[in-house]
Order: sequence, then structure tokens, then C-alpha cells
Amino acid sequence: MNVRDSLLKAFAEAGRNYISGSALAEQLGVSRNAVWKTVKALESEGYIIDSVTAKGYRLSAESNHLSAPLISAKVKASVIGSRIVVLDETDSTNNYAKEITAKGTPNGTVIVADRQTAGKGRMGRSFVSPAGKGLYMSVILHPDFSIQTAPMITSAVAVATAEAIESLCKADVKIKWVNDLYLNGKKIVGILTEASVDMEMRALDIAVIGIGINVRSVGDSFDAELSSRATSIQDETGAVLDRNELCAAVINRLDACLDKIENREYLREYRRRELLTGNMITARVGSETVTGKAVGIDRNANLMIETENGIVRSLSSGEANLCRIVE
Ligand code: BTN
Repeated sequence: MNVRDSLLKAFAEAGRNYISGSALAEQLGVSRNAVWKTVKALESEGYIIDSVTAKGYRLSAESNHLSAPLISAKVKASVIGSRIVVLDETDSTNNYAKEITAKGTPNGTVIVADRQTAGKGRMGRSFVSPAGKGLYMSVILHPDFSIQTAPMITSAVAVATAEAIESLCKADVKIKWVNDLYLNGKKIVGILTEASVDMEMRALDIAVIGIGINVRSVGDSFDAELSSRATSIQDETGAVLDRNELCAAVINRLDACLDKIENREYLREYRRRELLTGNMITARVGSETVTGKAVGIDRNANLMIETENGIVRSLSSGEANLCRIVE
């Protein structure tokens, strides 16, 4: 690891504590002058570093710069986060992930961007992704679980992401089947999973899991229509989360949740948080509109809906596109 990355790792490990220039010099095996020069170089990259005489240095709580070494320092996962790529800007981290997958990249590679110019949502919608405000990340998986398990990935990711957010701030994150996370009735997270299937092996070849989290106050980056249905963690809770720490928390929870996806234990948490259950809803299934009462989530993460004639239908995320609560 080079001096720059080692210094960032030392800052991440120290958290809110200051570390003196001489302690850093010793830890990194360089001179104090080299530490000072590296601090200045980091500042010119956009990091904000607190420097106090007789105390030393620490990364400022104001620093909002995404960084692979700062994320890696907090990753405990074994598979996810094996490689972390941080970009200032890309069209879509899912597109970028698919491009590098074609060239070959390790299982569990994570792509993170400060800003997306063409962030993608489900059903061809866009995902507004302004700089400095959100966490836009894609995880590349070469899954070793069965093709039957594949449709459950998105629901497992929803649980892992909700738990990661709650591990860092006081919030009661809900899930709207199948892939949206909500706080106080408005969307804060969208998830888009894109997969390719190996038809011969009847197995899932590659899955790209895209997660978009609105972290910091959205201000005027959302128009009135979007503001009426979407919000951010800061706007709802007042918490100003560190995006690097949040990214590491998502990686850690995701690693644990996907590792055990086949035992379906995560479904208990999913059902506890799910918003549609118990409500009259409409869902679009292909060209058909289904109205009925959402009566629960089955063991394959399908939404069960009881229609007027008493028949219970299970809707899979692949076939049911949009579910609305009937007012
Ligand atoms: C949705 O709400 O319909 C899904 C939104 C998914 C957004 C994330 S942001 C990271 C990744 N890259 C994309 O282009 N989309 C996903």
C-alpha cells in the first residue's frame, strides 16, 4: 500500500481521535515531512483534514470525499468488497460494472461513484444521482447459488441495506416490495439488479446489484415531483452520515446476508419491514392490472395478493412492476 492509502487507512482506524505527525510517521515508516506533504496532497484532492498543534491530524467530520482506502478500512466482509473502485463520475455504476465484468474482475468487486450522469432505475426510469449527496454503488457477483434463488437477491439486498442504514443512525427503515426502502413514507433507496444467465448450465452467470441511497439533504437537486415521493436520510433523521462508512456497512451486511440467502432467514426481517402487506393495492402484471389485498410475502419473496374473488396470487418481482396502495 502506498503512503497516501496507508495514511487514509490510519485516519479511518483512528476515527474521531487525532494522531500526531510523529506517530503517523512511525506507523507508516516515513518522515514527518513526508506525512505533512501527503496530508497537503490529500487536501488538494478534496479531503478535509483537521490539523491541531500538539494533537496532530484527523479526517474532518466535514470531509465528504468518497475513497476506496477509507471504505476498505471498515470492510470486514470476505467476498464483497474484494476490490473497490471509486469514481468521481460515471453514467451508471451498473453500466460500468457490466463493462469491467466483460474484461474480467474478481467476484465481489464494488463500483462506487460520487455522481451518475444517467443513473438507472427499474422499468427504464432514471435515478437522480447528484454529486456529494448519495451513495451510488454496484456489486458484481458471480453467484454460486441456484437459479431459483436468483429472484431473491433483490429482497436480500433490501434487508441488508436497511440494516446497514440503521446501524449508523436512528431510523425505522421500511421496505416497499420489492426493492424500495422508505423512511417516513418516502423513498430513500432504490435497488436495481441486472443478471445474465448461463442457459447451458441453467445457472446464474453474473449479477450486478445496483444500490442508490439518498444520504445527504437533497436541497434543490430533486424537482417538486420527485421531492413529493423521495427524500434522504439526512432530511428525515437529521443524521449526516459518512458515505464511506455507509458503503462499508452495506458491504458487510450484504456479504453476511447473501452468504446465507438460501436458508431464507432474512425473510423474517423482510416481512417485518414490508409496507404493502395488509393494504389494498394495485399491481401491474404484464399488461394486466391486479387489485386486491396484499396478504404477505411467500418463501420465495413473492408478494401474495388476495383478489376480490378470494384467489391468492403470488406476484414475482419479474412479472409485477408497480404496486400502489389504493387510497
Ligand atoms: C429504482 O429505484 O428503480 C432502482 C434505482 C437503482 C439506482 C442504483 S444507483 C447505483 C446503480 N447504478 C444505476 O444506474 N442504478 C443503480
